[in-house]
Amino acid sequence: MSTHGKQKRLTTTTIRAMKGKERVVCLTAYTTPIARLLDPHCDLLLVGDSLGMVLYGMDTTVGVTLDMMIAHGRAVMRAVSHACVIVDLPFGSYQESKEQAFRNAVRVLQESGCDGIKLEGGEEMAETVAFLTARGVPVFGHVGLMPQLVNTAGGFRSLGHSQQEADKIRRDAAAVAEAGAFAIVVEGTVEPLAREITTSVAVPTIGIGASPACDGQVLVSDDMLGLFNDFKPRFVKRFADLSPLVSKAAESYAEDVRAGRFPGEEHTFQIRR
Ligand code: KIV
Repeated sequence: MSTHGKQKRLTTTTIRAMKGKERVVCLTAYTTPIARLLDPHCDLLLVGDSLGMVLYGMDTTVGVTLDMMIAHGRAVMRAVSHACVIVDLPFGSYQESKEQAFRNAVRVLQESGCDGIKLEGGEEMAETVAFLTARGVPVFGHVGLMPQLVNTAGGFRSLGHSQQEADKIRRDAAAVAEAGAFAIVVEGTVEPLAREITTSVAVPTIGIGASPACDGQVLVSDDMLGLFNDFKPRFVKRFADLSPLVSKAAESYAEDVRAGRFPGEEHTFQIRR
């Protein structure tokens, strides 16, 4: 969505109102320089807890802490002048009670300056979503594949193949939408089900490994930029192939340093007279 005239950042209300009108463009961002590059092109920037795996080399998102999310939320907020910014509540920071969720969501909003939080969960989190939204915390829901549940779900895999799985995801999306989420991530969900959910809920669905019929799409930026050589899941389209460029640049730098070609005269400071 374009903002006209004086730059004003999009809000969660604007994103909610895009349902049925314009597709929502969302990417993850974790740092100031990358957020600055993505901001003009995105409606939503998500400071996802995927940063644990992408930036910190963790195997799952379970080890990500609230302090990490707040630090990266602040970094992204320093860059943005257009997109609405949402920060993930990490594992363990909201599941215990709706009061715990509220306390930690308020910390994230106050300390990072972001526009809302995202949390994973369906029916079991609906009461929390309602509690937060009734108290001024915009909530981005997340159903389907929920990476924070990796230890009980038995790994990362697409969902909705069986009738039982599909019914659960259907109920989850409906519960979170009715509880007041302004939008919902639908992750790793079979295409016809993601399509059906998109028509049945009143708020935008943002798909990742879901359906082109979703109201918007999100990808992990590092995946779509091709920064990983060894990770190419089916749902990722590479819009650039940066990892060979980075390797090549490092190789050229190393050659120049070893050969004494860098720094050149133009990179050094001479005494001013
Ligand atoms: O953590 C994350 O980046 C996410 C998106 C992939 C939806 O939750």
